Amino acid sequence: MNILVTGGTGYIASHTAVKLLAAGHQLVLVDNLANSNIAVLDRIALLSGQKPHFYQADIGNYAALSAIFTAHQIDAVIHFAGLKAVGESAQKPLHYYRENVAGSLQLLEVMQEFAVKSLIFSSSATVYGDPRELPLTEQSPIQPQSVYGRTKWMVEQIIADHCSADPSFSAVCLRYFNPVGAHPSGLMGEDPNGIPNNLLPFISQVAIGRREQLSVFGNDYPTADGTGVRDYIHVQDLAEGHRLALKLTNNPGCHRFNLGTGSGVSVLEMVDAFRAVSGHPVPLIICPRRTGDVAACYADAAKAQHELGWQAQLNLTDMVADTWRWQHLNPQGYQTPPAKLKEKL
Ligand code: NAD
Ligand code: WQD
Repeated sequence: MNILVTGGTGYIASHTAVKLLAAGHQLVLVDNLANSNIAVLDRIALLSGQKPHFYQADIGNYAALSAIFTAHQIDAVIHFAGLKAVGESAQKPLHYYRENVAGSLQLLEVMQEFAVKSLIFSSSATVYGDPRELPLTEQSPIQPQSVYGRTKWMVEQIIADHCSADPSFSAVCLRYFNPVGAHPSGLMGEDPNGIPNNLLPFISQVAIGRREQLSVFGNDYPTADGTGVRDYIHVQDLAEGHRLALKLTNNPGCHRFNLGTGSGVSVLEMVDAFRAVSGHPVPLIICPRRTGDVAACYADAAKAQHELGWQAQLNLTDMVADTWRWQHLNPQGYQTPPAKLKEKL
């Protein structure tokens, strides 16, 4: 298929791109580089032996999007582009609604104009908010607690309404739990700007010596060791989920799937796994809870298994080992000079 990948140089999209190129798909990537580095394109080329088309453009820009749809015969769109920092979304709600909701609307309108009828959308477990029951199924109550979460739920609703109005349109909303890990080659991974918000990038920057210590946000939760429990999912497994979701592109309607492993890992378990794999110390201090955090969150991913034939294959050690390899080979992320990288490979 000819697939347009929005947010194409981002963390999850870049891993998915390598997987899709290996499966024989043709890709067109679009990204405004708001949260990614152009160097990702060289790494994709190195891993896949192919350089996909790339456009530096904003999905909110009608002229730019319509030029891309004019230049390429697109069969399906995988829509990753968006902003994802929960804390920032509370400080800049209008910006988040503009980028995530209005941007998605613009994309859908251009798809409609060019009669492109298949969409995969990056949704998030954050749409469930504070779970009333665990594990979370796709039928669990939706109650997003953040502006970011509400943007994801709004886009899911817009997509569902569009599917109802156009019975030939197929959409798959994938609700990712906590994506972590990196490509096993160590050539691609997560490269957050500034201080990481998420646990695993923070731990790996402590282990490599870029940060002094990890702040553990609360050890008084009603969990086995008192720290927060999450369903961490390897980015390679997520990438495979997208490949399999393409099977539904001939199946009109709005489909929703949880993508998680189904098991929860605590903050302290993650730290222990990282120490064991890296052999480096991870100094930590216990801090108060972070506002908005929930005690535990993990998926029931049975629907994805039954309908997509998808199941997470990689375990916690794989997630941590691949993150560490990426961090170790690229101490400055994608800023790491290619010569330095070659020395280490
Ligand atoms: P990312 O920031 O690495 O990737 C998003 C990409 O979109 C970036 O490259 C950014 O430059 C680009 N982008 C942002 N706004 C754009 C715009 N208006 N036009 C064009 N490009 C734009 O994030 P990621 O972790 O790869 O996440 C991908 C998607 O998955 C996002 O929609 C995110 O909300 C969703 N998601 C992420 C997580 C997570 O924890 N990583 C969890 C659930 C859902
Ligand atoms: C995991 C656990 C923290 C950092 C977020 C978004 C969610 C999704 C994934 C996009 C929690 C603890 C963290 C630190 C810590 N993204 N922690 N010290 O909050 O589950 O989910 O990312 O859709 O929408 O909300 O992930 O990695 O930030 O936190 O103790 O420095 O680690 O309290 O228990 P979270 P996270």
